[in-house]
Amino acid sequence: MSAPVPLIAGNWKMHGLSASLDEARAIALGCKDVSPRVVICPPSVLVHRMAQALANEPVEIGGQDAHWDDFGAFTGDVSAAMLADAGARLVILGHSERRTGYRETDEIVAKKVLAALRAGLEPIVCVGETLDERKAGRALEVVTGQVRASLPAELADKPFAVAYEPVWAIGTGLTPTIAEIEEMHRAIRASLVEKFGDHGRGMPILYGGSVKPNNAAEILKADEVGGALVGGASLKASDFLAIVQAA
Ligand code: 13P
Repeated sequence: MSAPVPLIAGNWKMHGLSASLDEARAIALGCKDVSPRVVICPPSVLVHRMAQALANEPVEIGGQDAHWDDFGAFTGDVSAAMLADAGARLVILGHSERRTGYRETDEIVAKKVLAALRAGLEPIVCVGETLDERKAGRALEVVTGQVRASLPAELADKPFAVAYEPVWAIGTGLTPTIAEIEEMHRAIRASLVEKFGDHGRGMPILYGGSVKPNNAAEILKADEVGGALVGGASLKASDFLAIVQAA
């Protein structure tokens, strides 16, 4: 099986107003002849306008979360069907800021993955250990456990990505060593192959957590790193494009 096409996704988190559509256009302008798949995941209220603004551009739009039901009495929530209707093609699920801040368990994340599949969205499922778990020598066990429990069997013939984001590396400027990243990505790959056979070999495993223009090339060439999920550095077109070009 050939290596998956690298995927570089920008997670804008709770950043971005109408004026930020210009930044998205600047990103698209720089992506005309690049090899990776490039995705921007803006706040849900910008998904529709960004999808329209970039309709003919080589940049796809993703959501940052979605409810596990298709519709219903869930004040404030957004469903995968709504994101797809607004023009999203992918959706980030199980980000640590959701797992920690909103107590999302692996079981909830797996239900959200099923909702994404029903809506025709490609899920980017996030996993990652806390600093305490790493210090206790439990990082591999925690992360492979999340992979096994957050990815339902229904993904067996569907495109998806896993994003390894150590919680302690998010927004801190800290990153694991390349050896630590490779060790974790190989373990995730083994779990994917165990669960999905050959299909699990073809799905990209992204690294996320303080990816910046100055460390992207080294991280992106590490074994089993199939792209990046970028937070802060995806908000500025020049920084994000430097990361895209490093892939
Ligand atoms: P930073 O790139 O800002 O560390 O954020 C990573 C992240 O959480 C992407 O989902």
